Amino acid sequence: MKHILKSYKLKASLLAAVLSVVSLQSQAPSTTKTSISILKNNTPQSRYESILMTELRDKNSNKPKFRAAAFKLGSLLVNRAVECFETKNIVIETPLTAFEGESFSGSPELVSVMRSGDALLDVFITHFPDASVSKILVQRDEETASPKFFYMKLSPTIASGQPVIITEPMLATGGTLNMVLSLLKDKGVKEKNIIIASLCAAPEGLRYLEERYPDINVVVSALDERLNEKKYIVPGLGDFGDRFFGTK
Ligand code: URA
Repeated sequence: MKHILKSYKLKASLLAAVLSVVSLQSQAPSTTKTSISILKNNTPQSRYESILMTELRDKNSNKPKFRAAAFKLGSLLVNRAVECFETKNIVIETPLTAFEGESFSGSPELVSVMRSGDALLDVFITHFPDASVSKILVQRDEETASPKFFYMKLSPTIASGQPVIITEPMLATGGTLNMVLSLLKDKGVKEKNIIIASLCAAPEGLRYLEERYPDINVVVSALDERLNEKKYIVPGLGDFGDRFFGTK
């Protein structure tokens, strides 16, 4: 009996060890858990997001598959952004009874950091059909990785106090966003109203922004490991704009 019990215990501990490896492997290579304070409202990565991120990362995903994963992740990113909103309680009537629910306090402002930010814009407009859209073109020099300002067209209500959602799929060094944030702050937008919505971010860029803009919010689908020497996010997904728009 003792022998059977011993062998049972051994099998059980082996099974537990195997299960813990399997569960580690089934986690995404990156998580959204971190001590970075500007991610304070970012919710943990869901299983579905982990699957979609894997499709986005896969270099063998063709354009339709890449775009489909980006759109779906974009919708889930809207969900994350809404976690940063202040909402109001309202009482409505269901067909059966009165119900105390919740509603948006107003319509957010959308800011697309062209060109990649445009890839997420349609998804956000679908969820916020009333939102005004501002566009800013700041591009990083591929040689120096430094940002260069080209163009800006802001909505007249950008500093009205509503949440300002900046769509930027890849938050790498934070250099481009630093320029965008300083432009918005110059126009009177408050840090606490700003939400940066990114699919994938590097800790280096988040820390860079956190030091300069401690009151902003950032929501990301995945927080990756690091930047490489060319300032690409690792494990990352390569050049988002090229893969999404089909350019080189
Ligand atoms: N922009 C991209 O598209 N990919 C990166 O890895 C970094 C910035």
